[in-house]
Amino acid sequence: MKRRLLWVLAVLALFIVAATLALTQVQMGALPRPGRAEQFVATQIKRFVIHRESRSGVPPPPQDLQASIAQGETGYGTDCSMCHGMDGHTPTDTGRWMYPRAADLTSSSVQAYSDPELFWIIKNGIRFSGMPGFGKVESDEHIWDLVNYIRRLKKGKSGSGSD
Ligand code: HEC
Repeated sequence: MKRRLLWVLAVLALFIVAATLALTQVQMGALPRPGRAEQFVATQIKRFVIHRESRSGVPPPPQDLQASIAQGETGYGTDCSMCHGMDGHTPTDTGRWMYPRAADLTSSSVQAYSDPELFWIIKNGIRFSGMPGFGKVESDEHIWDLVNYIRRLKKGKSGSGSD
C-alpha cells in the first residue's frame, strides 16, 4: 500500500515538473511563431470544429453569381483588406504580425474549405485569433458575396510571410 502511494507521489512530482517546464516555455507575444506541434494541433481542432459547425444553418447561395462576385469585391475592400491585403495574399502589417497570422486567402489550405465552411468562418469569425465575425454587420447575402469573391482571388506567389 505504502509502495503504491510512493509511486503515485513520484508520478505526480514528475507531472508537476513537466507542466512547470512546459508553462515556462509558453510565449504570449504575437511576433514569434509557436512550435510545429502547437500549430498542428490548433489547426486540426479548428478545421474539425468549423467542419462540424458549418453542416447546418448555412443559407443557400445567391442565384446570380457574377453580380455576387462584383458585390463581394466591394465588401472585401471595406471589411477584409485591412488585414488580408487588397490581393488577399499580401497581408498588411497589422495582419502579418498578429498570431495566428492573417491567412493567405489564395492558399490551398484556405481554398480547401468548402463554400459553407467559408461562409461559416466569415459569419462567425475564429475565436482566439484576429479573425472577426461579420454576422452582426453583414447580411447573409453579403457574406455569400464575400465567399464567391475570395474564390476568385488570384493565387499569390508566396505564402503570407517567411517568418
Ligand atoms: C482584423 C483582421 C482581420 C480582418 C478585418 C479579417 N480577417 Fe480573416 N483572418 C484574420 C486572421 C488573423 C486569420 C487567421 C485565423 C487562423 O489562422 O485561425 C484570418 C483567417 C481568415 C480565413 C481563413 C481561416 C483559416 O482557417 O485559415 C478566411 C477565409 C478569412 N479570414 C476571410 C476573411 C474575410 C472574407 C474578411 C472580410 C469580410 C476577413 N477575413 C477579415 C484576420 C482578419
